Amino acid sequence: MSSELLEISDVQVEFNVAGGAIRALDGVTLQVNPGETLAVVGESGCGKTTLARAVLGLQSLSGGSITLTGEKIHGTPRRMAERVGMVWQDPYASLNPKWKVGRSVMEPMRLVGKSGDAGKIFEEVGLDPRFVDRYPHQLSGGQRQRVAIGRALALKPPLVICDEPTAALDLSIRAQILNLLKDVQKANGCSFLYISHDLTTVRFLADRVAVMYMGRVVEEGPTEEIFTNPRHPYTAALLESAPSLEKLMHLPEPPVGEVPDPKTRFVGCRFASRCPHAQDLCLNTDPGRTTEAARAYFCHFPVKSS
Ligand SMILES: Nc1ncnc2c1ncn2[C@@H]1O[C@H](COP(=O)(O)OP(=O)(O)OP(=O)(O)O)[C@@H](O)[C@H]1O
Ligand SMILES: [Mg+2]
Repeated sequence: MSSELLEISDVQVEFNVAGGAIRALDGVTLQVNPGETLAVVGESGCGKTTLARAVLGLQSLSGGSITLTGEKIHGTPRRMAERVGMVWQDPYASLNPKWKVGRSVMEPMRLVGKSGDAGKIFEEVGLDPRFVDRYPHQLSGGQRQRVAIGRALALKPPLVICDEPTAALDLSIRAQILNLLKDVQKANGCSFLYISHDLTTVRFLADRVAVMYMGRVVEEGPTEEIFTNPRHPYTAALLESAPSLEKLMHLPEPPVGEVPDPKTRFVGCRFASRCPHAQDLCLNTDPGRTTEAARAYFCHFPVKSS
């Protein structure tokens, strides 16, 4: 019996599209430990949201398995609600505009036949309990995201997934929401799977980071090690392209080079076409997993350890 809370093993997800199939997840293996925050980073289209949907049981797998507290994740919505909370990028789209927000926050409770106090949940996420009678359009973006976080935490699930939770918010509100996430984690002891483009927020929040590229994790490890001593050239390129503090509103520029068609079936390293260190071996041989203490990467010619 493993001690991991979430165990993602060799997961494959395929989408059939015109002209072939996209392997949105192509052998993803990851673990999340109790009480930790694992950040998943990578450029647009690398499979982050597909991974979140797979963990929620919303996405059927074409291979591999996902277990949460030792149980396979597929289950009824009711059973899943008790096990995973979800915070989406856009709180306006994820809250029913016709419902008072107090009702939205209580929806997971209703699903499992429990009752509770919406006002108390509002207080836990820093909202005035009188706001329970408001509609989403009567709240600010930051307040709506607090409602969404309250809803995700209502049943005190052991895992909360956040998919770009601050991307739709003003810069001035982002720090407040990140602090709230830290506080609720301390209070509830839950784990976070935190998906983001924004490397600054990842460094602030995450204990560990997994870097994804074209459907696969290419490097993972403790946050500071990943930021100060990346081993995979893609991680290094991502960090180099990260915006400076003054330009935080912009997404990082992806590394230069040709991005492969997402329908590509890779034989060698999927980053080879864009990698400054690529050699013939990279094009025709899949780099296996190399582990070094608490970190792992998939690369034949890793960046020298500093
Ligand atoms: N329902 C779908 N049908 C077909 N292709 C899909 C579907 N959902 C996702 N994809 C494709 O799967 C790949 C991964 O998409 P996904 O949304 O998981 O990426 P992402 O990392 O979340 O991107 P972003 O940072 O833009 O949110 C992309 O190539 C995308 O076009
Ligand atoms: Mg996404």
